[in-house]
Amino acid sequence: MDLKILIVFLYSHLLFNLTICVQPEQSVISFEPSSISITTGQSYHVNVRLLIPDIIPPDVFIMFLYNEKLSDPQGYIQTLPNITFTKQTGDDQSRMVIVSGRRQGHLVVTAQSPQVNISSQYDFLLIDIARSRTLSILVQLVGWIYFFAWSISFYPQIILNFRRQSVIGLNFDFLALNILGFSCYSIFNVCLYTSHDIQQQYYTKHPHGVLPVLLNDVVFSVHALIACLITAGQCVFFERGTQRISYIARIIGSILTVFLVVSSIVAFTNHLSMLTLLYFFSYVKLVITMIKYVPQAWMNYRRKSTEGWSIGNILLDFTGGILSVVQMFLLAINYDDWSSIFGSPTKFGLGLFSILFDLLFIAQHYIFYRPITRRTDLTTNGENTDERTPILSTQS
Ligand SMILES: *[C@@H]1O[C@H](CO)[C@@H](O)[C@H](O)[C@H]1NC(C)=O
Ligand SMILES: *[C@@H]1O[C@H](CO)[C@@H](O)[C@H](O)[C@H]1NC(C)=O
Repeated sequence: MDLKILIVFLYSHLLFNLTICVQPEQSVISFEPSSISITTGQSYHVNVRLLIPDIIPPDVFIMFLYNEKLSDPQGYIQTLPNITFTKQTGDDQSRMVIVSGRRQGHLVVTAQSPQVNISSQYDFLLIDIARSRTLSILVQLVGWIYFFAWSISFYPQIILNFRRQSVIGLNFDFLALNILGFSCYSIFNVCLYTSHDIQQQYYTKHPHGVLPVLLNDVVFSVHALIACLITAGQCVFFERGTQRISYIARIIGSILTVFLVVSSIVAFTNHLSMLTLLYFFSYVKLVITMIKYVPQAWMNYRRKSTEGWSIGNILLDFTGGILSVVQMFLLAINYDDWSSIFGSPTKFGLGLFSILFDLLFIAQHYIFYRPITRRTDLTTNGENTDERTPILSTQS
């Protein structure tokens, strides 16, 4: 029995925590704060504290490494002085160093000492050096605006359904895929944000990384899921004609769900790390983001109308999408770091992809299938007039 547990333990450690076994698991020094944001020309005071004062004497001599390079801050900041902790320092084993920004970018400061083994995995200082404070504020502002635009983008559809007491025109495949997608995204965000274990797995994999989930991601995804569920409730109670979820969407949804269930079982039997499992959930969300608009666009085309499909939703989605891409560019300019855009094309590509689909919907609504009240203006387009007639009857 004990042997079995031991084997499972060793097995999972060998597979996923290889680096942890090699590294000492204890923090030796700490930086307070452990991450700072400054601009070029600005200085910041950081405390370096020795966490194991028992080992003194002898003196502990500390040198700093910058992005893994010893004693060379590569122009990002002014070189930090070496530190020596001596017994005379008394109880308070901390020293203040001044970090002065020189050049925009990201820098990881770690430490090294001949007397103690300092783990660069646990003890590090993250420094973001921005070009300008104004840009930093603008980045935050843009972030909040798109957060709100995306968050409220679900309401125009809900209000429209309520006003019409009907969901005719809203594609059920789109809604069903959205519910599955936001469920996955919520699970990803909530677990990564709340679970200390999974965060540790993340940091093991990305030693000096920043957790990719913030509180507003959690709030956004859970709120989006609730809004989609409310819309689904409307589909149950309001007039829906002959609309239903198509077989193709059912099959796609089932395949993705089975994939996640099987992965979860494998993960819960310890053959897959929880972090990898969560990434599977996020990949499913990505797949859904890429396909979810197709059925709605096709349905609008078939009906030659966008009646019942809220353009407010699309305009807000479009605003959010544009601003999220703008924010990526602002960040790249501010930190002179274009790798974040072009190095990981997923986020950027998805942003662009949604924007293109929104443009298609905007064209459908305002150009191709203009609301019926203006139909008399479009005398040149006789062919379309015939096809609109049956829709009129379903709406009345
Ligand atoms: C820190 O000490 C090392 C080794 O003695 C030396 O090479 C380096 O120049 C010193 N750095 C500073 C900033 O004094
Ligand atoms: C640091 O680690 C190495 C190998 O892991 C070991 O040989 C050395 O004695 C350690 N040094 C201290 C000061 O603990």
